[in-house]
Amino acid sequence: MLSAFTCQSFFIMASITDTARISLDIQCLTIEPTRYVPDLKEDVCAGLLNRPRSLPPKYFYDARGSELFNRICDTPEYYPTRTEDALLQQAGSAIISQTRPDYIIELGSGNSNKTKKLFNACEQQTHVCAYAPFDICRPVLEAAAGELKENYRWLEVEPLLGDYHAGLGNLPRYDGVKLYLFLGSNIGNFIPKDARAFISEIKDQMKPGDYLLLGADRIKPPSVLNAAYNDSQGVTALFNLNVLRVLNRELEADFHIDNFTHEAIYNERLNRIEMYLASKTPQEVAIDKINEKIRLEMGEKILTELSYKFHPDELEAMFSDLGFNIIQHFEPDNRYFSLVLARLK
Ligand code: SAH
Ligand code: TRP
Repeated sequence: MLSAFTCQSFFIMASITDTARISLDIQCLTIEPTRYVPDLKEDVCAGLLNRPRSLPPKYFYDARGSELFNRICDTPEYYPTRTEDALLQQAGSAIISQTRPDYIIELGSGNSNKTKKLFNACEQQTHVCAYAPFDICRPVLEAAAGELKENYRWLEVEPLLGDYHAGLGNLPRYDGVKLYLFLGSNIGNFIPKDARAFISEIKDQMKPGDYLLLGADRIKPPSVLNAAYNDSQGVTALFNLNVLRVLNRELEADFHIDNFTHEAIYNERLNRIEMYLASKTPQEVAIDKINEKIRLEMGEKILTELSYKFHPDELEAMFSDLGFNIIQHFEPDNRYFSLVLARLK
């Protein structure tokens, strides 16, 4: 595992060097919050000092976390990425010919890999548009923007750096037809009422005739879901544990990574994966920057992420309630995933 990771790091360095060379002009536009959001210290105080303990998932995504996420997407068990990618490959040309966007704005864009299917469709239709990827992780955003600029010379790329929980009201105002993307079932990482509120916030940025393409993972047999979040190579475990490294670095905490285990279980009643870090032993952890110590019992869990799974009707109902027309609802033969293209009335 270690040597695999070292090898991976080499490639990251190589690609960052390449990116630096070609991308002196890559400037991320920082999106200022439109409302107050707690910082890491405040989130840790609120989430870790009291029981049940929890941490917000956005702290997974430092450079190493994003790299591990990309590796999760390649594991045989994690079907969502390749399923959604195949749907975009099949549906890409229909999506572009229907929407003819002037701007594609993607929230939580990560490496933008799947989005290339839409840019390929643009090329086939000689349709030109601009792309604004919005992400919280600067290294991933810069690398993605650099790669896209190199491979799609015609594409104007304007990377936006920020936290989408802090409001979308400071996104640049774009003229023309907009296609918003929210892929990867990131919508499932919100609790249901916040998911709806977030789609409504996206809607507030739209004008009638703009589009939203949402990728959402479906309810399916628990064995498939449990395997997807417990890959046999242990990449998801490394990803989950990475948040403790972030706390060690950013808050001068002394979490011993080996004293925790990754747990992910599908809750059938609530249709969601619950991901935890469980304490292997009774232990005390100091978090120096907030002058606190936390005592964890053996087996005590910290909730690190929820990933809700959806019924297709539920997704359609949400769009209708919010004033969208559903243009098309794409699904694969096994019905594992939904890609919903909706247009604001
Ligand atoms: N859309 C990509 C990446 C999904 S992983 C895909 O489908 O493969 C989730 C992405 O959302 C990561 O790139 C992460 O950095 C970003 N992200 C997570 N929380 C965020 C937040 N609060 N604001 C902006 N981006 C966020
Ligand atoms: N949005 C993705 C999901 O819910 C995020 C994700 C994928 C993830 N794999 C993960 C989050 C593993 C934590 C751990 O599927």
